[in-house]
Amino acid sequence: MHIAHLTDCHIVEPGERLADRVDTAAALHAAVDHVLAMSPAPDVVLATGDLVNDGRPAQYDQLAEILGRLPFPLFAVPGNHDDREGLRRVVPDLPDGADTEGRLDQVIDRYPVRLIGLDTTVPGEHGGRVTTSQMNWLDRVLSADPARPTLVFQHHPPFVTGIDWMDDVGLDGRELEAATLAAHDHVVGVVCGHVHRAITAPFGGTVASCWPSTGAQVALALDGDRYRYVEEAAAVAVHRWHPDHGFVSHLSPVGPATTWRPAWATAS
Ligand SMILES: [Fe+2]
Ligand SMILES: [Fe+2]
Repeated sequence: MHIAHLTDCHIVEPGERLADRVDTAAALHAAVDHVLAMSPAPDVVLATGDLVNDGRPAQYDQLAEILGRLPFPLFAVPGNHDDREGLRRVVPDLPDGADTEGRLDQVIDRYPVRLIGLDTTVPGEHGGRVTTSQMNWLDRVLSADPARPTLVFQHHPPFVTGIDWMDDVGLDGRELEAATLAAHDHVVGVVCGHVHRAITAPFGGTVASCWPSTGAQVALALDGDRYRYVEEAAAVAVHRWHPDHGFVSHLSPVGPATTWRPAWATAS
């Protein structure tokens, strides 16, 4: 099973640029082209939030137009820049949230890897949160199918990155999530967005990771410097699961990529 994972597209209104600088729509088109060229083609596409920048309908309409180019099943959780209802314009079969206090927590059961989406957003706030009742729900869902490898996807990463200004809008309740996951040994990973960088950390008996934005990258500022972005390559994550080899994640930068083979590989 191959999962293409996009995050933090931050789509703005048509014709506008993010921070008057980044054409996030053009960047997402490039990321979509990148996914369309993948071989093998992904079985599913995951999107881990901040898909638009301000939760506005016109932004979702533009997002739907761009992601609509992907002929693969698309699953998504919201980020702090999203609007839960707006996201339905792009992913119509999102859960109604009736059993999860309005959150768009979800289970996708029809693939070799079971996918569990956690909605970590708190409407009106940039930081995220997981609650006791949400973790009780997660524990029940994980207990229901302990034999199947399971991937959790969510917007806010459940670890401290060392980039202070992003950690200030991190995830409350991460100890609770770690304890919940630690009770289950079939969770192959927790994949996230939000930080606009590729980062991994051990977490809850598994591996948690976040991945670059399709549009704008946050600088590696471990010195406390705030709000610094950097012109690094956008990327898509590719998560592969194989029954004999397990789960592995790849970072695939978007952009011109010329492939080549050295002479020794072609010499007879
Ligand atoms: Fe973001
Ligand atoms: Fe975010």
